[in-house]
Amino acid sequence: MDILATEQGSPSILLARAGDAATEPSMARAEAAGAWRAWRTAVGSMDPDQIIGLVSEAGLRGRGGAGFPTGRKWRACADQPGRERFVVANGFEADPGAQLDRTLMERDPHAVVEGVALAAYAVGAHQAYICLRPGATVAVRRLRETIRAAEEQGLLGTAVLDSGFDLHVEVREISGSFVVGEETVLLRALENRRAQPDQRPPYPTESGLWGKPTVVNNVETLAAVPWLMAQGAQAFQAVGAEGMAGTTLIQVTGAVARPGIAEVPMGSSVESILRLAGVAGTPKAVLVGGPSGGLLPPSEFDLPMTPERLAGSGAIWGSGSLVVVDERTCLVDLAALMTRYLNDEACGKTIPCRIGLRRLAEIGERMMTGHPRPTDAELLADLAADTRAAALCALESSATNPLLSGMRYFGPEFQDHIVRGVCPAGVCQPIRVAAGAAS
Ligand SMILES: Cc1cc2nc3c(=O)[nH]c(=O)nc-3n(C[C@H](O)[C@H](O)[C@H](O)COP(=O)(O)O)c2cc1C
Repeated sequence: MDILATEQGSPSILLARAGDAATEPSMARAEAAGAWRAWRTAVGSMDPDQIIGLVSEAGLRGRGGAGFPTGRKWRACADQPGRERFVVANGFEADPGAQLDRTLMERDPHAVVEGVALAAYAVGAHQAYICLRPGATVAVRRLRETIRAAEEQGLLGTAVLDSGFDLHVEVREISGSFVVGEETVLLRALENRRAQPDQRPPYPTESGLWGKPTVVNNVETLAAVPWLMAQGAQAFQAVGAEGMAGTTLIQVTGAVARPGIAEVPMGSSVESILRLAGVAGTPKAVLVGGPSGGLLPPSEFDLPMTPERLAGSGAIWGSGSLVVVDERTCLVDLAALMTRYLNDEACGKTIPCRIGLRRLAEIGERMMTGHPRPTDAELLADLAADTRAAALCALESSATNPLLSGMRYFGPEFQDHIVRGVCPAGVCQPIRVAAGAAS
């Protein structure tokens, strides 16, 4: 995926050292550009508590979707009794519209592996895993090569940098559906157990991999740590929005001139990110956050991208992707497709997940084909409440987002389908008109 040029002066924390897609990473080049310096300093002269303090002070929040404060997560793990604990870097990224984590792992694997090492040192873990999908072959190969080169230099392995601290990092390819990216599902998959979520609490920081305290962080979250340690907490905090420090990667695809990945300050508006991808004029809608994201209209494009503000508008941060939709796309069709995808990719552990998502997909299908039932609106509202109340994981609780946001912002297009049996975009035609509906 191409990396988009950002506005002049826009800071680069995550992709500053990114090579082009074809360039194989090299330890010598990475080190010359500053890689592993924070790690050497940390192991040589810093107490793990200091690192957690720095990450907390910098205001780093998770980039995996929920925006959980990273320092708080690390502290919770570090404070657990016992010696054995783990760090798991989540690079699963199954959303078909997102390749930003994969791009980061391909272009600067050193930042990811160094971030993993710093997290492990901070919480006292001697074993860490980087998990990604088998299809991400270049990322897998480059991460493994980076770990091997780091071991050769004594940066990883037994007694790193002659410190007495052991750290082994492994890359694990994990197969599975979209839900496997959810942290408790990922941990079960890593244990070779059935990939389904666990009830929380206890959180993975208390009882994670093989029941041991475990930090699960998104790879992008971890890749920011070497920079913030090298440049200082205040330098990191100076970038981004209030309560949402640093930069992030956002992928823009769909009806755009330049699809790609942009590194932008946290809290950048949807509109400003679309400009980077060459969106001219005003698109019809943007699907924000991936399959369980929200369909936002132009009136919401000035929204700052933060988990809280997006949730308030019916979208989510999710996978950090923006899919731009123009007049040629039917939003009822798109919302129904996303709903069907979520039903297909869910694990079905709970009843709302196993049956509720199926009913939801059927509602989407009926709306799309102009065959609504009189009770569909009520059933949709019930499903939204039930999946939220009984959810074990956010796949369930966010599954109603595409349909609900579509109905909220694009009522006339949905009404054309549902009431009149007409697809204004001309995509779903000829749709069958429900018996008795006016044409
Ligand atoms: C259905 C679903 C899929 C997810 N997929 C991913 C993923 O691919 N990568 C990821 O980092 N987090 C994913 N998450 C979020 C993780 O559960 C978890 O919050 C995250 O890895 C924590 O890292 P962070 O604190 O650095 O954000 C997913 C969550 C859900 C509900």
